[in-house]
Amino acid sequence: MALWGGRFTEEADVRFKAFNDSLVFDYRMAIEDIEGSIGWAKAINSVGIITDDELVQLTKALQELLFEVEKDIHAIAHAGFEDIHSYVESKLIDKVGDLGKKLHTGRSRNDQVATDLKLWCKAQIKILQQSITSLESRLIQVAEANYDVVMPGYTHLQRAQPVTFGHWVMAYVEMLDRDYIRLTNALNLLDTCPLGSAALAGTAYPIDREALAKDLGFRRATRNSLDSVSDRDHVCELLNVASISMMHLSRMAEDLIIYNSGEAAFVELSDKVTSGSSLMPQKKNPDALELIRGKSGRVFGHLTGILATLKALPLAYNKDMQEDKEGLFDALDTWHNSLDMMSLVFEGIKIRKERVLSAAKGGYANATELADYLVSKGIPFREAHHIVGECVVYAIAQGKALEEMSVAEFKMFNDRIGDDVYPILEIDSILKKRCALGGVNLTRIKEAIAFMKEHIANR
Ligand code: ARG
Repeated sequence: MALWGGRFTEEADVRFKAFNDSLVFDYRMAIEDIEGSIGWAKAINSVGIITDDELVQLTKALQELLFEVEKDIHAIAHAGFEDIHSYVESKLIDKVGDLGKKLHTGRSRNDQVATDLKLWCKAQIKILQQSITSLESRLIQVAEANYDVVMPGYTHLQRAQPVTFGHWVMAYVEMLDRDYIRLTNALNLLDTCPLGSAALAGTAYPIDREALAKDLGFRRATRNSLDSVSDRDHVCELLNVASISMMHLSRMAEDLIIYNSGEAAFVELSDKVTSGSSLMPQKKNPDALELIRGKSGRVFGHLTGILATLKALPLAYNKDMQEDKEGLFDALDTWHNSLDMMSLVFEGIKIRKERVLSAAKGGYANATELADYLVSKGIPFREAHHIVGECVVYAIAQGKALEEMSVAEFKMFNDRIGDDVYPILEIDSILKKRCALGGVNLTRIKEAIAFMKEHIANR
């Protein structure tokens, strides 16, 4: 039965009902709807709408319902009610009869749904932060085990300067740390309770909204009833955080897809996260990573979707806003699964140390060192840059690495180059020199890993 039959003489068309009903997705807020209802029961008791005895009965019945719902929340989805609020109210009436009909006094589904969704977001933020932390921990383990594994660093997808595998991994840990902080910031902003704002103008009963907010675990009550029921900033915000983080995961996936390619062969992905081709028996495809990359697009779509839905809505509540949930739920599920999948990818990844080292040695990644060397001999950098460019052209033509050129050959380009050039062209020296904070000096990398380990442990 619908919550609003009195004004109507005709039954709703079944096609309209299917179009309008939201239970198939908003059942996911069942626990929050019940918790919010327990809070509301206390609030209306405090202003004398229900007696203490009635409060006890309602609370008991709602707690029973909570227990039942927690057993299999998905079972509610197809129970045939208009939405989760109708479901909970109707189940409550089944348990306590007419008393159940008193609960909605002074409350609207508008402040109810706004409260439920915020409670749901708060719970999700905790879960997502746990997933981020566990991915970071896994990445830090891999970084520790490979902190000194030299590999090429790229700009423009051209080999640029050597870095280490550990340093590359830690770059993503930094990104994930920001994602974690973004979630905390989003939580701080959304942590205000709309309940007691009723349909749009505020409840007609003198309840203590601050006490209600505290009781439901919010930092404070919202301040304006119109804003309370029409605010979906937190949905946009969480979709934004999810989008940025999916962008990070997608870039990481893309790096790994390149590293896993036959051409690079820097890493080997485990059989657990790859699939075969139905036609070509030799293939092992990086499906997990491709799906992470692909799903990022879907999450970005939900962000644009909600912004477009909200942009021209007049205050206060409009049914358009029911469209806030499916995109949010899907995006957060997708993000959560992608974080977990990335962890799994790193569980079995093999780094082919010899391959990455020899790639780091090729590609003239030490050309900058030669230029710096010339600078140390008193040649201005711009000129040094030019001289090295010529050396590289020559070396390529000879099929040699820079360090394979003889002193006589170097002298063809600049006579200040001597025997002392060879040590500075070594990878070890290249890494060692980059000793400022954030650089690839191995001691710095170890410090960065230790810092993040402690940072995460202190969350
Ligand atoms: N299912 C609705 C939603 O998600 C609940 C609020 C309904 N309010 C109303 N006035 N019809 O937005």
